Amino acid sequence: MRYNDIATLLFHTPLEDLLRRADALRRRHHGDHVYVRGLLEFGNVCICNCRYCGLRHANTRLPRYRLSPRDILSIAETIAASGADTIVLQSGEDPSLPATALAPLISTIRERTGLAVTLSVGERPRADYALWKDAGATRYLLKHETADPDLYARLHPGRTLAERLRCLDDLIDLGYATGSGFIVGLPGQTPEILVKDILLARALGVKMCGVGPFIPQADTPLREAPPGSVALTLRVMAVLRLALPHAYLPATTALATLDPVAGQRDGLRAGGNVLMPSFTPDKYRGNYRIYDNKACIRLEEVKEAITRAGRTHSLR
Ligand code: 5AD
Ligand code: SF4
Repeated sequence: MRYNDIATLLFHTPLEDLLRRADALRRRHHGDHVYVRGLLEFGNVCICNCRYCGLRHANTRLPRYRLSPRDILSIAETIAASGADTIVLQSGEDPSLPATALAPLISTIRERTGLAVTLSVGERPRADYALWKDAGATRYLLKHETADPDLYARLHPGRTLAERLRCLDDLIDLGYATGSGFIVGLPGQTPEILVKDILLARALGVKMCGVGPFIPQADTPLREAPPGSVALTLRVMAVLRLALPHAYLPATTALATLDPVAGQRDGLRAGGNVLMPSFTPDKYRGNYRIYDNKACIRLEEVKEAITRAGRTHSLR
């Protein structure tokens, strides 16, 4: 698939055709099963200043938290009991969390629950990724966010797309099932950049790819920017399914923010085959405010969305 093929699918193919093709391909390669990942947002401390994100370091209005290893373990047990396939340990980029502190937690979760461990804790030296791999982590999520180097640099002060790609290369090289993803409707994004996002995900050969619409957050420099289109996000998901037939494609929380059940169901109909309910404790949920009105996707809504989409799961 080349640039022009993707551009045609994305911008000129009638929506019904696109969704039908994506849905057929999803069924052929994955069947009707929906994979469920239990998401634990275990800390919101972040040194980065991504201009779109409410967790950015410069946002002093956000109360910060870090869950204790004890709490993390007990939530891992809850996730295992729910029947989810994996625990996703996600946090802001927090260098004060030493790699050597996360490693024993990973091995204990593996021993006590048997859950696959997915990490999503940002950019780190290769040695950290290697340590966590040895401890038993098998999957890693690190979105490339945007495939355009200039837009990337403008939105991520002090960071470069090249560094991001170095991290993704390291993760893939170390044998992680690696996931990327990007945001649809970022201020400054052009249709050409969106095509490049899909091409990059394909070139990296990622095993997972999460896309969601941009949603403005009041305590960020992009507070006044218009939100990304949900309809376009669904088109992007469908094209991703055609470009990456074997990949795991989640219906993201951002997609579900306007209407949790309908948003997730639509994502499942646009080629998606993964949902990510949150197991973050209620008292911290409000502080993981990446964007405003962030939905909290609970297990019950996940089950309902799967049923409404006519699909199957192995949740208890
Ligand atoms: N709108 C949509 N998605 C966002 N993210 C961060 N801020 C926003 C926003 N304002 C996404 C990024 C990041 C993930 C944790 O949340 O893609 O990787
Ligand atoms: Fe930090 Fe991730 Fe938000 Fe960037 S997107 S500010 S790295 S939590």
